[in-house]
Amino acid sequence: MNRGLVKRTKKERTETQVLLAQYFTPSAIANYMASLFRKPTQKQVRVLDAGAGEGILGLTLLDSLKKTPANVSATFVELDDQAYGTLQNATAAAQKKFDVDLIHDDFINAAFELEHQGKQFTHVILNPPYFKLRVDSQNNKRLRAQGIHVTNIYAAFVWLSARLLEDEGELVAIIPRSFCNGPYFLKFRQFLFEHFSLDTIHIFSSRNKAFAHDSVLQENVILHISKRPQQDLVKITYSTDQSFADIATRKVPFESIVSPSDKSKTIHIPAENQTMSLPDFAQNALQDLGVSVSTGPIVDFRLKESIKETGDKSTVPLLYPAHMSGHEIEWPRDAFHKLGQHYLPAEAVNSSLLTGESEVADKQVLPLDGYYVVVRRFSSKEEKRRIFASVVSPDKLPTNHVTFENHLNYFHAKKHGFAKDLAYGLCAYLNSSIVDEHFRKVSGHTQVNVSDLKNMPYPSHDKLTKIGGIMQSIGELMDDIVKKEVVGSVA
Ligand SMILES: C[S@@+](CC[C@H](N)C(=O)[O-])C[C@H]1O[C@@H](n2cnc3c(N)ncnc32)[C@H](O)[C@@H]1O
Repeated sequence: MNRGLVKRTKKERTETQVLLAQYFTPSAIANYMASLFRKPTQKQVRVLDAGAGEGILGLTLLDSLKKTPANVSATFVELDDQAYGTLQNATAAAQKKFDVDLIHDDFINAAFELEHQGKQFTHVILNPPYFKLRVDSQNNKRLRAQGIHVTNIYAAFVWLSARLLEDEGELVAIIPRSFCNGPYFLKFRQFLFEHFSLDTIHIFSSRNKAFAHDSVLQENVILHISKRPQQDLVKITYSTDQSFADIATRKVPFESIVSPSDKSKTIHIPAENQTMSLPDFAQNALQDLGVSVSTGPIVDFRLKESIKETGDKSTVPLLYPAHMSGHEIEWPRDAFHKLGQHYLPAEAVNSSLLTGESEVADKQVLPLDGYYVVVRRFSSKEEKRRIFASVVSPDKLPTNHVTFENHLNYFHAKKHGFAKDLAYGLCAYLNSSIVDEHFRKVSGHTQVNVSDLKNMPYPSHDKLTKIGGIMQSIGELMDDIVKKEVVGSVA
């Protein structure tokens, strides 16, 4: 079924298309999504397509239900006038065969109205719009009043339509992967796991291939849930892109995807060939190491006055990602393109920070009384690893205070430095392939947030200290050593 999608570049997208996040689903994805539904056992099959656009998802699903003996009806909801017009034409043929209801409204209204009417669905299929919901928006207030706490419209669509499922009903949605981790989607995950069974997740190994024709650089997953108790095994399917040419499937226990003891309900999607499960050998929380992690406090464009191109004894090193050189720091840099690499602390002018004679009142400045580890907050998708860490060593800086720019996250011990061996061990662990694999499972984006680093499992303090010692004696970070020490084997 090919609905002749028009190829558009970003520039050609109309204002409405951008505003309503209109990215139409290619037919191969629609077919795959429809194929995930089990053979219906109900006498009455009721389909819902929320944010239907030109109707490709609902129509593909109806097409796949042609032969079922059940009585089939479908409801399509679309807000945009133009898309709704196309939807009316596109569904004309289906209307002859099935009982089709078209709703021209905001789905947030429509869902509450359908709920109010006691309407329930057996099959929900959707590719919802995605954009951040403004906290003070009318829609957000209405959602909250109904116990729906989300920060992105796509989660609202899934939440509202899942509420409309009858028992044993199924929902298949193509959505960004961002709901899998992080505090913003915690309530959404709690809602999902409280009422539904996670049946299937599909991941595209190439990040920009799901909607290649619409230039969407968004990592999407296909989520398939059912309103029934959680099944023991979850099916994970993989394909490079929307052609599904190399589709692979594996089944994994639900507990290895969402750990029963994990209060953050993070969804770990294993990589296709992944054999080890990080939580088995890294069972410590970051706080067990006596270490915490924060985002660099210096937002340079807001503190222009305090950032200097040249330093003197009243300034401290301001570290940027550009100062990370392998697993060490190189400061100052010769050709530095930012505002400057020296920070002038508030209330510490004229005091000698170089000799440490003064206490620095500025809370954004940290004492170099031990070692810190920094991690870049952003990486590009071309980079081999998502996490890049370096050790900030007091021996490498000429002052006894330092501060960090906002594009870095830094590990510290209550805003002080910590032991050298632990710092090198932590840095080696963070740069390792096992952490990279783990991180890719839980996070769909290239950003590394403090919450990601806080929620990650860590090896024990002793193990990291040992690794740190070995690393320093050989002078480089060797992945095999981390694997051997942490997992117990190099395989
Ligand atoms: C990502 S597109 C997907 C369209 C279609 N489901 C598909 O798969 O091709 C999202 C659709 O939701 C519509 N939409 C956006 N906000 C909406 C809202 N509040 N209520 C109903 N539809 C909305 C857009 O106009 C767009 O057609």
